[in-house]
Amino acid sequence: MTNKSKTSPKLSQQNVAILGLGKIGTILLQAMLREGLLSAKRVRATVTRPEKAEALSKELGIQVGTDNAAAVRGADIVLLAVKPQTVGAVLTGLRDILKENQLLISVAASVPTIYMEERLAAKVPIIRAMPNTPSMLGAGMSGICKGSNATAAHLELAQAMFNTVGRTAVVEEKHMDAVTGLSASGPAFIYIIIESLAEAGVKVGLPRDLATLLAAQTTMGAAKVVLETGQHPAQLKDAVTTPAGCTIDGILELEEGKLRVTLIKAVVKAAQRAKELVFS
Ligand SMILES: NC(=O)c1ccc[n+]([C@@H]2O[C@H](COP(=O)([O-])OP(=O)(O)OC[C@H]3O[C@@H](n4cnc5c(N)ncnc54)[C@H](OP(=O)(O)O)[C@@H]3O)[C@@H](O)[C@H]2O)c1
Repeated sequence: MTNKSKTSPKLSQQNVAILGLGKIGTILLQAMLREGLLSAKRVRATVTRPEKAEALSKELGIQVGTDNAAAVRGADIVLLAVKPQTVGAVLTGLRDILKENQLLISVAASVPTIYMEERLAAKVPIIRAMPNTPSMLGAGMSGICKGSNATAAHLELAQAMFNTVGRTAVVEEKHMDAVTGLSASGPAFIYIIIESLAEAGVKVGLPRDLATLLAAQTTMGAAKVVLETGQHPAQLKDAVTTPAGCTIDGILELEEGKLRVTLIKAVVKAAQRAKELVFS
């Protein structure tokens, strides 16, 4: 179930707290401000270091501090974007502050909703989301699921938020670590593929910037065809592969180099790591 529609304008009337304005928190904030989904004057964010808070506040034009409790009081939506290992401590500090009428959205990898629910006194609705860094350009992919106190309306609201930065897929919580290994870690895998294709271009004589353009645009084009035609990737690959042509020679090299099994193992390992992260 995916969706890329634009969202309800009502979200800009909500007070939002972002706890952990790091890489992904900033990407989501900037994209949602740019899309008019959030209003800068209604957003408060936190980090741990006061000097960083001050710098981010100037750079982004929102209130940034170091006090999570102060940011959460009066917020309608609390976006939790700290490292998985920090989630427990942050929520324990907010145990009696977060209330049932607030919505907690966590983007922390590997932290189950039940782990978060157990640390809060009230029956706070919790949504777990797993976005990725292409969200910075509206080309993100987010998997989302809901905890036991959240309703379909909460899920819809969170989906509307993440739709502004790309596509969303509502998944069962048991699949969130798999989503982490595939689409949240995935951009890093794809960057390596693009970098390698560009190196190959250089090897066969192309200037590096042209080789990178060819590699990146080809990757984007192939992904767009898969998404828009709905055809099986194997069928699309066959259409490029002329009998006794050039592509089949390249494919033979990929098979000999075990590209497929290497990619499969990369996602499996990343998903396995996501299962253990919160407890390590
Ligand atoms: N990066 C991705 O592609 C991606 C994608 C999906 C989900 N995620 C998830 O997003 C979360 C953050 O990842 P990230 O890559 O954005 O990490 P990051 O850049 O290290 O950001 C973490 C932020 O949390 C702040 N922080 C730490 N302890 C805090 C506390 N007690 N209260 C408030 N803020 C605190 C840090 O502030 P200071 O720097 O001042 O300490 C930092 O700004 C992780 O759980 C990760 O699993 C990341």
